[in-house]
Amino acid sequence: MSYNPYKPVKTKITKVVDETSNIKTFTLIPEEKIEFKTGQFVQFTVPEVGEAPFTPSSSPYIKEEMDITIMEAGRVTEAIHSLKEGDIVGLRGPFGKGYPLQEFEGKEILIVGGGVGLAPLRSLLLALLEERKKYKKIMLCYGARTPQDILYKGCVCGWCELKPTLDVRLTVDKDVNGERPKGCGVGLVTTTCDNLGIDLKNSIAIICGPPIMMKFSTLKLLDCGYAPKDIYLSMEKNMSCGIGKCGHCALGKYFVCKDGPVFKYSEIKEIEGIWD
Ligand SMILES: Cc1cc2nc3c(=O)[nH]c(=O)nc-3n(C[C@H](O)[C@H](O)[C@H](O)COP(=O)(O)OP(=O)(O)OC[C@H]3O[C@@H](n4cnc5c(N)ncnc54)[C@H](O)[C@@H]3O)c2cc1C
Ligand code: FES
Repeated sequence: MSYNPYKPVKTKITKVVDETSNIKTFTLIPEEKIEFKTGQFVQFTVPEVGEAPFTPSSSPYIKEEMDITIMEAGRVTEAIHSLKEGDIVGLRGPFGKGYPLQEFEGKEILIVGGGVGLAPLRSLLLALLEERKKYKKIMLCYGARTPQDILYKGCVCGWCELKPTLDVRLTVDKDVNGERPKGCGVGLVTTTCDNLGIDLKNSIAIICGPPIMMKFSTLKLLDCGYAPKDIYLSMEKNMSCGIGKCGHCALGKYFVCKDGPVFKYSEIKEIEGIWD
């Protein structure tokens, strides 16, 4: 039978974890295996409600199931947040190009995440750690609004223990009741990008988060000396088909669903409204 990219694969929710007050992680087992490259996205269908795009947050090396971490934002995500273990949904994909891991080999890798932007970055980090020896250095700078908004708290604290394999810098915009994890600073995520101790000539940076955070993190890294070609951004646009046919996700000459969602800043920096 030929592959139909519009037809969702029947998928069972096997676990739901409350990450923060408005973010949940869903573990999903599709009836037919869906293998993805880290950074690619899938369309998640809620029967009789609609569908929305999300990037898996689990390791691409795990083939039987996938985690998707979802922030409640509107109609579809509200419906997803009301789902429980055992419910049946649909998944189609994977779509897009994901992170070009081969281009990262031999380099010092800086990952900068904000808020729910840590979801695709967790998948990337797990993929990088799987083949740790291929990369010279891995550093994660992550910012959340408050200590309660830090995603994957157990995981993040575990990553902090992985030094020197992984260097983690955490920050929150605002502390609440002194509940910051050990080593977590106070300030915007850009403040963690000072004194990086990275060899800029042999480094690439990957940024994912809300548009305003991506904008200021990009400006900060340019200021630090990163070249536009060495900064990778995960772009979000409203999507429909997911396969470059409908034009909903146009970004200049590109379609985010087909040519992205990961772009080098040098490829898109002249396009008007990239941070909108
Ligand atoms: C490639 C890709 C990967 C994504 N991965 C994740 C992920 O891993 N986890 C996650 O929580 N979210 C992710 N998103 C964002 C997610 O798709 C949107 O939050 C979701 O589509 C909102 O649908 P809704 O029907 O709940 O909201 P709507 O009712 O459509 O809209 C609610 C509000 O959010 C705004 N909005 C809608 N879609 C987007 C969007 N794509 N980007 C920014 N604002 C939007 C609307 O303008 C409106 O203000 C991703 C988006 C893309 C394009
Ligand atoms: S979502 Fe249809 S062209 Fe990208």
